[in-house]
Amino acid sequence: MKRLFIIANWKSSKTIKEAEKWFHDFHEGFKLNPLLLGNKQIIVALSFILLEHANYCSSNLKLPINFAAQDVSPFEEGAYTGEVNARQIKEFADDVIIGHSERRRYFGEDEEMINKKIVLAQKYGLTPILCVSELKQIHDSIRQVGGHNSNYIVAYEPLFAIGSSHPDTPSNADEMGKKIKDTLGEIPVLYGGSVTSKNVKSFTQTPNIDGVLVGGASLNPLEFFKIIENA
Ligand code: PGA
Repeated sequence: MKRLFIIANWKSSKTIKEAEKWFHDFHEGFKLNPLLLGNKQIIVALSFILLEHANYCSSNLKLPINFAAQDVSPFEEGAYTGEVNARQIKEFADDVIIGHSERRRYFGEDEEMINKKIVLAQKYGLTPILCVSELKQIHDSIRQVGGHNSNYIVAYEPLFAIGSSHPDTPSNADEMGKKIKDTLGEIPVLYGGSVTSKNVKSFTQTPNIDGVLVGGASLNPLEFFKIIENA
């Protein structure tokens, strides 16, 4: 049975109180069905300011959740006002989303910057969850970091599918998953874009997709719980 990654991307959502409620509601579901996880690794990617309290809630409630940041500074520690660097993030998270299309679009992130982020994330022991909408972005990002390195998760997220209620077809996602693996080796490849509890299985059952990155549908803990159950 392949290992599946089910990742929630809360984006710029939730206060500390709202996050706390999410974990308590998630825990209610988990209490009733603790064995559902099996081969599934659950990761929640949230805003920097929520990371510490989320760790506290999750360990108090004994939830099998890992945490990810949604971005990382392209610089080391130093005079970079407003930035949060990889060494700081590593205190609270094991993974970090890099190159999400919203960062490329609204914050002008290009391959060179994404590259610097990948290098620093790996230097400090964070696994990059590299988001791409086309294969070319893989070549551009990875080429500059020196080629093949197995410490990645790649999420294929076609632009038209993000937040649109129009997911890509499972066969397209699988084909892209195969191309990514042909390029980078046997790394986990996820699909992201309008994933719900109703369509998740159609993606996770394909041979080359190893999980999902879930935005909107992850904000509701019960829906996210169903996504995990159905994956
Ligand atoms: P969505 O977002 O599930 O709301 O489409 C996915 C993502 O942007 O990671």
